Amino acid sequence: MKVTVVGAGAVGATCADNIARLELCEELVLLDIREGFAEGKSIDMMQTASLLGFDTKIIGSTNDYAKTANSDVVVITSGLPRKPGMTREELIGINAGIVKGVTESILKHSPKAIFVIISNPMDTMTYLALKSSGISKNRIIGMGGALDSSRFNYYLSQAIGCSPNEIQGFVVGGHGDTTMIPLTRLATYQGSPVSNFLSADALKKVAADTMIGGATLTALIGTSAWYAPGAACAQMVESILRNEKRLITCSVSLDGEYGQKDICMGVPVIIGRNGWEKIIDLKLNAEEQAAFSKSADAVRSMNNVLSTL
Ligand code: LAC
Repeated sequence: MKVTVVGAGAVGATCADNIARLELCEELVLLDIREGFAEGKSIDMMQTASLLGFDTKIIGSTNDYAKTANSDVVVITSGLPRKPGMTREELIGINAGIVKGVTESILKHSPKAIFVIISNPMDTMTYLALKSSGISKNRIIGMGGALDSSRFNYYLSQAIGCSPNEIQGFVVGGHGDTTMIPLTRLATYQGSPVSNFLSADALKKVAADTMIGGATLTALIGTSAWYAPGAACAQMVESILRNEKRLITCSVSLDGEYGQKDICMGVPVIIGRNGWEKIIDLKLNAEEQAAFSKSADAVRSMNNVLSTL
């Protein structure tokens, strides 16, 4: 198996590091436009191989897409990250051109690749990759809900005082501070609804903290996060390459599911060797469905900006 990670910045490098440690593929190409940057990061990571005991071969490339040929999975992290005070949406102008160009270059060398899109605004970049490439919708998966759900699990575990591993929560909708929807009603602690353990006010605070989870980190670090985005991406790549059929919230093209069409948004999907294989209908209640529709309006207006660029 072969994986390419485009963009050797903090998110891309952390994805590559996680994928190598899990030995998800024999070969991993890390590509960046900055001269020598991906090569340097790759050599640094390869120098951890004998310490960590992995056998994935990591190869760096300065914009040479020939090296990415015949990748099974391609992760796109390229573009600018947000700075403190910025929304993910403000990145659309610069990142749209980058994501479109990268997708085209990749497809020339890896016509069968499955794409994992991380660049922001993620739902719109996923939609753009789908529309500009014309490939099957199952091969384009946006990483947003996987990350937002892991943040939700973290905040729930902090409030309950338990391990994040004992929580199962889903965040659906758009990957934006005001568009994501932590599904508090459906979150469980070891199989019991979290409302058995936390008051309504505490649950509201958890949902609010989750929604600004990325912005909180951006304010603290000065740029957007990378450990959780990198790990969330690796979980998706693992489910693809090992055909695990895990249920992960990801941004995928909707065709009537959750009442939406011609849009990419976060919903729970089964992820396997063919990309996203099936959308799971969580049966939202009226309030959740209304939030989903409102979120879709915001994502759609961002998608509409693409035609003005
Ligand atoms: C975040 C970025 C990756 O939420 O969107 O941290």
